[in-house]
Amino acid sequence: MKTVCWSVDKIEDNKINYPQLEEAARFLQNNEVVAFPTETVYGLGANAQSDEAVSKIFAAKGRPADNPLIVHISDVNQLRELSTVIPEKSEQLMNAFWPGPLTLIFQKKAGAVSELVTAGLDTIAVRMPDHPVALALISAADLPIAAPSANRSGKPSPTTANHVRTDLDGSIAGIVDGGPTGVGLESTVVDCTGKTPVILRPGGVSKEEIEAVIGKVEIDPALMRLEEKPKSPGMKYKHYAPSAPLFLADGDQKWIQDLVNEKRNEGFKVGVLTSTESYPQYDADIVLDCGSRFDLTTVAHNLFHTLRSFDEEQVDIIFSEVFPEEGVGAAIMNRLDKAAGHKWLRQNI
Ligand code: TXA
Ligand code: MG
Repeated sequence: MKTVCWSVDKIEDNKINYPQLEEAARFLQNNEVVAFPTETVYGLGANAQSDEAVSKIFAAKGRPADNPLIVHISDVNQLRELSTVIPEKSEQLMNAFWPGPLTLIFQKKAGAVSELVTAGLDTIAVRMPDHPVALALISAADLPIAAPSANRSGKPSPTTANHVRTDLDGSIAGIVDGGPTGVGLESTVVDCTGKTPVILRPGGVSKEEIEAVIGKVEIDPALMRLEEKPKSPGMKYKHYAPSAPLFLADGDQKWIQDLVNEKRNEGFKVGVLTSTESYPQYDADIVLDCGSRFDLTTVAHNLFHTLRSFDEEQVDIIFSEVFPEEGVGAAIMNRLDKAAGHKWLRQNI
């Protein structure tokens, strides 16, 4: 299949080049899948009401069928078509963070979307992205749009149209190129359907920010202890992994440099993922600066691109520094831990 690419420039007054988006929207209405930018990562969109369209998402990504998709809307009124029960805390979170990097779980209205979207659950994940191209595309299509991240299953999520091309060129109908995404990590998934709200996936909105609006929230224990079965089905799969084995190295720079030297002496091509602050101090085959420890939003923004860059450099092994788990740092460390397949090396044990 030939993948059409629409390059959507933001013109001066921040209006979007609509004719291109109209064509992309028609693709969606014809049950084709189209990748598009959001403020978090690129999504792979399809008409959420159509089995045919949604099954194309799973096929293109190689995604397990038991991993449900987030439904994207451009207007809160669309939510009423998807769920009839809006808990008060969800409403407060919507008011505070939509449009934005927050996905909420609701009781699903029967028949609202293809059963494939929700993978047999009686709940549905909904989000309104904060990106002018995403909002314009969804509203031009005039449909709820199911969209997972637009990567091959298991790979880091795409933060540029080029990442999407690397993974999916030839297997999807189109890509809307709106430039690099902003946040760089996926949305936070929060479930307010029970007594206490639960964070099922840390993401672009931090626990601290959420608690400032609705008070105490829990974190799905499965995010911390591997033996628990995660409530967000997607969290159990191998994810975000670069091709080379990645180790989280929790120690000082000298100790990490010793790890690097040891592997280089054995003949391996070694990569290091660092912060801006310690970048100049490493000597390895590939050293990549992921962003500043003093502004973790920069690390979030660069993380997936950095992980993908190690693939391009064809390193044999990667050591990554660890980052503080405050604010968006919780999401950064969640993604890094998964990218590493939970492989940690600790200096002090
Ligand atoms: O930022 C994002 O959320 C991006 C952009 C494209 O919007 N999308 C994204 O989708 O990250 P995906 O498919 O890669 O991740 C969706 C997550 C998975 O962990 C999935 O298991 C969870 O949301 N999820 C979906 N429906 C759910 C439900 N009904 N209950 C619990 N978790 C659900
Ligand atoms: Mg994903």
